[in-house]
This record gives sequence, C-alpha cells and structure tokens, in this order.
Amino acid sequence: MAEIISGKIVSAQTREKIKAMVSEFETENKRKPCLAVVLVGNDPASEVYVRNKIKGTEEVGMKSLSFNMPENSTNAEVEEVVKCLADDDNVDGILVQLPLPKHLDERKILSLIPDTKDVDGFSPNNLGLLSIGTPRTVSCTPLGVMELIKSTGIDLKGKNAVVIGRSNTVGKPMAMLLLNENCTVTVCHSKTDNIAFYTKNADIVVVAVGRPEFLKKDMVKEGAVVIDVGINRVDGKLIGDVDFDAVSEVAGYITPVPGGVGPMTISMLLYNTLMAAKKVNG
Ligand code: GUN
Repeated sequence: MAEIISGKIVSAQTREKIKAMVSEFETENKRKPCLAVVLVGNDPASEVYVRNKIKGTEEVGMKSLSFNMPENSTNAEVEEVVKCLADDDNVDGILVQLPLPKHLDERKILSLIPDTKDVDGFSPNNLGLLSIGTPRTVSCTPLGVMELIKSTGIDLKGKNAVVIGRSNTVGKPMAMLLLNENCTVTVCHSKTDNIAFYTKNADIVVVAVGRPEFLKKDMVKEGAVVIDVGINRVDGKLIGDVDFDAVSEVAGYITPVPGGVGPMTISMLLYNTLMAAKKVNG
C-alpha cells in the first residue's frame, strides 16, 4: 500500500518558514511583501483559486491587492491595470489568473508583467532560465510537486520520470526541474501512442492531463512515486487525474486530491512573492 504524501503537512511546514521570513522582511523594510492578483470574469474555479491565494498571502502576513474585472473587459483595460501594477514599487508580485476570457490577448497581457514581478514564473525569460539549468522564478505547481517528491527522501539521480502533459505552466517546467535533478525524463501528451508503455517503466509519474482518473493501476510500476496534479470537478466532487484507490495498491508514494499538490502550489506562490520582495532575483 502506498504511503500518502500529504500536501497539507508539507505545505504547512513550508508556510511556517515563509511566515518567519515575512516577519523578518517587514522588520527590515517597514512594509509587507505585496502580491497583486488580477481576475477577469467569473469562472467559478478561478474564483476559488484566487480566494485561496489571497487567503494564503494574508495568513503568512503578506499584503494582497485584488483586482476583479468584469468578463467583458477590453485588452486595453486589463493592460492598463497590469501596467500600473508593474510601475508600482509597493507591488512585489503580479499574478494574472488564467484562463483569461477568450477575447483577451493572454500573451500580450502577461508580457507586461516584469520578469522580477512574475511570481508565476510564466515569462519566456523565466522559463528559458529554467531550461538552461539556471532557474530564477519557477512556476508554482511544478515547484510544489518537486518539494513533494523530495519530501519522500528518494534519490532522484538517474530515475525514470514520466510527465504526462506538456503545458507551458506545468508539464514543460516540470520536465525541466526533473532533468535538472538528473532524472531521465519522458514527456507524454494527448498525441502519445501507448502512454502505459512509458509509465510502466517509470519510477516517478507526474500526471497533469485534466482527465478524471486517467492513470490506472495497470499503468504503474510497483513502488513508483505518483503525483496527481489534476483537479477535475465531477458531480460536485474534486477528482484527480489518478485512480487513487487502485493505484495506491501498487505505488510506493502517492498524493491525494484534494490535499496534495493544490496546497503546495499556493505555498510556492507565497515563496516566489517573498523572493520577489527580497529582490533575490535582481
Ligand atoms: N490557473 C490555474 N493555475 C494557475 C496558476 O498557477 N497561475 C495562474 N496565473 N493561473 C492559473
């Protein structure tokens, strides 16, 4: 039976450390680190995520600014808000919640966030730095996944790692982080033939496909570390991308949904915001 990796526990430990560092920052700088969150529209899942992010910042003693803009906001209106935040010296981190409504130019809007305030790690420069092995700000979800994997204490060097999903926000940075830890990395995606062929040989499987219970027991090697990034709403319940009960019978370690990757993502956002405030990255 797999050991459960509790995102709640690892995340609480991380947040205690961040809280202490925030308090130090405030004493030294006479202000709190500040995260600005921009939400456009009324996507219910995004509203929940944004609420949890703001709650998280406040719990560790940071300041948050929240900009809720209507669904029919124009590109110019959203760009203006982001530009103001970019120019504001009291704002350390800017997060534009994705997905944006379809009529908006996501790439253009995100490009207005300076690299130093890109606490999501989504900018081409931040992704590029990770890819050349000198990471600066790293995307929160993969960073949190890495913390969860490391919490098992396993030696990552030379391990076969399979990432299912190739998004710019999760799959690609996840693959780079694992490569930087000397894993042998395979990225599978929606066009991959016979995903089980790869996962059956994997010591680590990170699943970020957005399909409920996609990873089945017969796809997993005995003793593997299985990390579930999925958050699917099915009949009002949150279901991951892993068939949790069955896969638990073969995996060595597994993350639950909820209570796995989710809490870690927010902890890493708080960490990235603190580092931006401390100007660790320039
Ligand atoms: N939407 C879902 N996850 C994320 C995230 O980590 N950051 C942003 N900005 N939007 C998201």
